Amino acid sequence: MGGGSKAAGMEKREGSRSFSPGVVLIACMTTLPILVLTLGAYHSWSLDWLRGVTVVSLKGSEDESFISSPAPEDKLLGGLLAPGFDEESCLSRYQSALYRKASPHLPSRYLQARLRKYEAQHKKCGPGTDPYKKAIEQFKSNHSTGPMECNYIVWTPYNGLGNRMLTIASAFLYALLNNRILLIHVPKDLDDLFCEPFPETSWVLPSDFPIIDQLSSFHIRTPQSYANMLRNKVINKNSNGSLPAYVYLHLNHDYSELDKLFFCEDDQLFLKKFPWLVLKSDNYFIPALFLVPEYEEELRRLFPSRETVFHHLGRYLFHPTNTVWGMITRYYEAYLGKAEEKMGIQIRIFQFAPISSENLLDQILNCSRIENLLPEISLKGSSSSTTKAVRSKSVLVASLYSGYSEKIRDKYFEHAAAAGEIISVFQPSHEETQHTEKQTHNQKAWAEVYLLSFSDVLITSSWSTFGYMAQGLGGLKPYILALPENRNAPNPPCRRAMSMEPCFHSPPTYDCKAGKQVDKGALGPHVRHCEDVSRGLKLFD
Ligand SMILES: *[C@@H]1O[C@H](CO)[C@@H](O)[C@H](O)[C@H]1NC(C)=O
Ligand SMILES: *[C@@H]1O[C@H](CO)[C@@H](O)[C@H](O)[C@H]1NC(C)=O
Ligand SMILES: *[C@@H]1O[C@H](CO)[C@@H](O)[C@H](O)[C@H]1NC(C)=O
Repeated sequence: MGGGSKAAGMEKREGSRSFSPGVVLIACMTTLPILVLTLGAYHSWSLDWLRGVTVVSLKGSEDESFISSPAPEDKLLGGLLAPGFDEESCLSRYQSALYRKASPHLPSRYLQARLRKYEAQHKKCGPGTDPYKKAIEQFKSNHSTGPMECNYIVWTPYNGLGNRMLTIASAFLYALLNNRILLIHVPKDLDDLFCEPFPETSWVLPSDFPIIDQLSSFHIRTPQSYANMLRNKVINKNSNGSLPAYVYLHLNHDYSELDKLFFCEDDQLFLKKFPWLVLKSDNYFIPALFLVPEYEEELRRLFPSRETVFHHLGRYLFHPTNTVWGMITRYYEAYLGKAEEKMGIQIRIFQFAPISSENLLDQILNCSRIENLLPEISLKGSSSSTTKAVRSKSVLVASLYSGYSEKIRDKYFEHAAAAGEIISVFQPSHEETQHTEKQTHNQKAWAEVYLLSFSDVLITSSWSTFGYMAQGLGGLKPYILALPENRNAPNPPCRRAMSMEPCFHSPPTYDCKAGKQVDKGALGPHVRHCEDVSRGLKLFD
């Protein structure tokens, strides 16, 4: 996440250098071979393959007259992003606006103001500053007496890349609500994925952080967890005694009822006393923050439209590093850029809901047909040569296996689409199994999420955090493939999501005020059960 360079945290401010990626786009389109169905001859494309073949330089356009910089308001995504970053160190930050359609959802003025305030605070409290050094001294003393000038939440990675990004966003919103500084632990497998999101500082947890070697082994039985310290009376909400230096918040899907007290207002007030919180989670826990009375008003001001929370936070926080951005733009220009319509299909099979690839392919095609996402095929033979206006449609398939894209491609290769459309089917990579521990795997996965987020229409798999990323970044309400039942696709095969928000898969069910279990999905007008995970919680407008 260090932008590939050790100094990425200290990006220098300069005026906006103007070179136009748009120029590169146009140039590439004219020089690259026309890529349509003939590419079906290749059995697999991987980004590695592409890396060797298509080298797109994003620098060095000499022709000044050809340059038209994007409008500043687009570049900053409606005031979401701060101006003044060094553009070269993270090209995606200001260039993504050129690839993705402008979002119809603008960040509220209040959110913009809070982000700028957060950035100033992070710069003041970030690694290397005096307040940070003081807080580290406090940490080392193994006790705390209350909040300090600067207080922190340390995010630690757990589970797949999608889960990690969802929890970074959740941790950031939590930091925003509590005036804490978010620091993220970046092991090797997460290096060179994300640029620094905050200007002139760093969000990377320094490598000399006192317990950095222990972070990856924290789990539900770690003595420093909130639940275990309550249970063992190391801490007491009602006493004024000395407190330990930090609390470990265990918010993984396997968390206990005591861990879930995190979502109670009293516990939130108590946790404010700790300068340091350490968080591990694989869940998008933001919906439950909307149910904490203390945060209600602030969240309403930050996000007048509830279902844009991840849409805004995701585009604010996650900027592919130049390495990943290179993969994204090369692939886009080679395969997707020319299509008039872009469709994304994100396929994920979970062990708890198996289905054969034939059935799943049928389910996808049935969904596409019923929802009019892909054209009918004409069995009368080729009709495309006679129609006048031929529309081109690209279908990007993201899956660990290559079979799906090949079969969809074959279908449109063998039979012309009835309306004479040209359908091109691509799959950037297929890794067969998920390797979250590998950096290159994560880079490819991140590139794919980003490419999917350029789609006009998206089909996603139930339960997939990967799909949540793409829909959130793209501002799309996907068609969600129903979870297989007894190895079969249910009827209907898919349904349209009512909100583009990710789902909180394992929410708490405890009503802190009433002191009993409740159905939180029935609690508020803006939090309901998810389309794909019935016990899950999701934000709606
Ligand atoms: C803790 O301190 C607060 C204020 O400092 C005081 O109001 C409260 O009574 C104290 N509680 C206990 C249990 O000592
Ligand atoms: C830190 O303090 C806690 C109690 O607050 C204690 O259980 C623990 O042993 C202490 N650790 C060290 C390294 O002193
Ligand atoms: C797809 O649709 C066809 C025709 O309606 C139906 O016979 C078939 O069972 C469906 N398959 C799946 C997997 O949904």
